[in-house]
Amino acid sequence: MKILFAASEIYPLIKTGGLADVAGALPVALRKKGHDVKLIMPAYQGILEKVAPIQKSINLGNPFGVGDLLLLETHIPENDTPIWLLQCQALYEREDGPYVDKSGIDFEDNHIRFAALSWAAATLALHGHLMDWQADVLHLNDWQTGFAAAYLESWKVEHIPVVTTVHNLRYNGSFDMNQFSAMHLSPELLSMHGMEFYGRFSGLKAGLVYANAVTTVSPTYAKEILTPEYGDGLDGTLRAMQDRLVGILNGVDYDQWSPEKDALIPHNYGIDTLSQKQANKLALLQENGLSEDLNQPVFGVVSRLTEQKGLDLVLQVMPTLLEKGARLVVLGSGDKYLESQYLELQNNYPNQVSVRIGYFEDYSHRIQAGIDALLIPSRFEPCGLTQLYALKYGTLPVVRQTGGLADTVFEEGERANGFVFKEASTVALQAAMERSMECFYDTNRWREKQKNAMSYDYSWDVVTDQWIRLYESLIHQK
Ligand code: ADP
Ligand code: GLC
Repeated sequence: MKILFAASEIYPLIKTGGLADVAGALPVALRKKGHDVKLIMPAYQGILEKVAPIQKSINLGNPFGVGDLLLLETHIPENDTPIWLLQCQALYEREDGPYVDKSGIDFEDNHIRFAALSWAAATLALHGHLMDWQADVLHLNDWQTGFAAAYLESWKVEHIPVVTTVHNLRYNGSFDMNQFSAMHLSPELLSMHGMEFYGRFSGLKAGLVYANAVTTVSPTYAKEILTPEYGDGLDGTLRAMQDRLVGILNGVDYDQWSPEKDALIPHNYGIDTLSQKQANKLALLQENGLSEDLNQPVFGVVSRLTEQKGLDLVLQVMPTLLEKGARLVVLGSGDKYLESQYLELQNNYPNQVSVRIGYFEDYSHRIQAGIDALLIPSRFEPCGLTQLYALKYGTLPVVRQTGGLADTVFEEGERANGFVFKEASTVALQAAMERSMECFYDTNRWREKQKNAMSYDYSWDVVTDQWIRLYESLIHQK
């Protein structure tokens, strides 16, 4: 099968969250099973330095009036995956992140930036002759590429099947109606059964309503988003298309995330050499100048600091747990208020709390290896990858029972591998963290959970077959 996979971030080229990990790994897993995948992503500033020399380029024209869109064919050196980079200086060559400027504000022209990406993906899905490669299926991810489904609809042509994956319903990519004319889409699409969204127009909704199948990244989230509580205003749309919606759990790229071979951690270890995990713990404590007592637990956070992640709750319960001897290591960035509150906690407990604001891939690995328990008290969590990484590192997750967290972390039973609470409240979080501390002091029980955690296989190999079956069923339906 030939699969055109469109995404706005792809690891190891650019990453702000889990979407990049997925877009960097699922295509690799599909290729390992013999399928032919091409990625498409913007050539953001600095990307060309990270890829192999360009093999071919074509000019797709200037449909948005902001300069020519050039398509450059190359591959990702780390894993050989072929990629088409969409180059347009005016749209993508900026010093900041892929979506926001230095002060964290969305770029004003994001609708055009991602309309262009979507338009290019739709054009290439339709006109295989342009690059001598005709896709059998087009796989879109989140709102940034959801507009591609709208272009195909707008052009009123027969086209290959389209799958849209929702990684996060909260980011619906909706824009003011007076920007619609710049999109070069048919106004017929602006009905409430189309891409209109509460008086605005939405890239995510376009991706939902005009796709042949919609997936999301865990079975539980696939059910939750049918309710008003988790549906972010799209639950009605999703309920109406339930027969086209399926939850497929994300996998883990164990080439990147295995304590046995992780080159980014000071001491490698595995299920039979867990004492080496202690060496990583000591190294992490020393790196951060924290008290070095190995008999007390170290909690950790590696996360975007947003409302979704529930990390305001951690701030409230932490003082009580710190008084009991716990320590906390935080790596995150996002909401300025949360950043400053965490820094304040560090000031108040300099021997027990370390907070680093920013995005540091290498450090995230040292944390996963060095902490005892990872805190993920999310209000909602489509899948969550950090708990899956934690499990492999024998780091027990403390999670709220929602989305992919509910599908992968269990407190009781044969697969017990962490600590789980239901209510998004400080009381429930504190109780779960206290249970985790008690378990930590009971070394045998803790070891047992660690072994359960480390032995479970969440690799892409397992779920890739579900993807292949889905693509095949759509191609056969056409
Ligand atoms: P989300 O996509 O909602 O942010 P996920 O758990 O799916 O949540 O994925 C987050 C990814 O981003 C993980 O690979 C995690 O290690 C990484 N990550 C999050 N924050 C940081 C940070 N500040 N520094 C380094 N890596 C981070
Ligand atoms: C989103 C979600 C996260 C998920 C990731 C990858 O960013 O917030 O839960 O793991 O996408 O699918």
